[in-house]
Amino acid sequence: MLALTDFSSRLIAWQRIHGRHELPWQNTRDAYRIWLSEIMLQQTQVSTVIPYYARFLERFPTVTALADAPIDDVMARWAGLGYYSRARNLHRCAQVVAHEHGGAFPQTVDALAMLPGIGRSTAAAIASFAFGARATILDGNVKRVLARVFGVEGFPGEKRVENAMWALAESLLPDAANKDDVTAYTQGLMDLGATLCVRGKPDCARCPFASDCVAKVEGRQRELPAARPKKAVPTRKTWMLILQDGDSILLQKRPSMGIWGGLWSLPEAADEAALAEVARDLGADEHLQRLAPLSHTFTHFKLDIEPRLGEARNAPRELMSAESVWAPLAKIDAYGVPAPVRKLIDALSGSLI
Ligand code: ADE
Repeated sequence: MLALTDFSSRLIAWQRIHGRHELPWQNTRDAYRIWLSEIMLQQTQVSTVIPYYARFLERFPTVTALADAPIDDVMARWAGLGYYSRARNLHRCAQVVAHEHGGAFPQTVDALAMLPGIGRSTAAAIASFAFGARATILDGNVKRVLARVFGVEGFPGEKRVENAMWALAESLLPDAANKDDVTAYTQGLMDLGATLCVRGKPDCARCPFASDCVAKVEGRQRELPAARPKKAVPTRKTWMLILQDGDSILLQKRPSMGIWGGLWSLPEAADEAALAEVARDLGADEHLQRLAPLSHTFTHFKLDIEPRLGEARNAPRELMSAESVWAPLAKIDAYGVPAPVRKLIDALSGSLI
């Protein structure tokens, strides 16, 4: 991993010139205002939060005012921001601060993280912005910055990778001597992630770490951070019979439960021999023709289809019932047929024309 000895000083210098300085929750050390902004910004973007933040502070100017307000008033001012458990926790948190902490937010990360709705990263943001505490944040944006600059491999949502990132982030913190440095550093991490080191198309040309960044140097900006690993989906295999009688094929209604419930599909079996038996029972010619296999991926499994084509030499026409039907190839549209089955039928129709 990259050994960058001046990460914090470079980030602080960059933040002071190129970072954001006029957001409504900046240029204050009022823990109430900082806490409120951090909660609102947890799952909501800055431009959406700004008007809500102003209206909220107008109605609840202090933590005591918020604690004393009826929950309905709090919800009313939150309405539209979404993730409403945030508003309920906000109100509970204000009451704990008002009644158990004498109206003043505690100053350490650990004490802040005990309060309702405040996780480790939010506690660190509040501690560093309000109290100049030497504490690291680690939200999604920061994980992206660290993964790219330092070439941290693995999906950051995975505990092992996340723990390594917490340790890395801690090791990068600037000296605690200057509280304004700590604030600029924390804001710098946020600003870099939100304005340059963005997910889609990072603006590496303007990044203070471009010459050292592992992702940039190796051209792996799109690969880092690693995406959530795809779960291997189980595969099921099925044999399907296209039983043909002139211009018609046999469709059967699927049971209402299970995949393709209630749709029209082809006769099916779990292996080659079983399908041959099904074909025989339906009066098909001995010889079944092998067609090109087809795969279809559902959310939870992959279905490999082995299609076989059979001639209905002596198929009883009276098969026509509520559960099975001779469907003219030209009229397949009239039946609800699952997409992959439709593909098989279309391929066959194409070859017959
Ligand atoms: N996202 C979370 N906290 C933020 C802050 N203080 N400024 C801008 N965006 C943020």
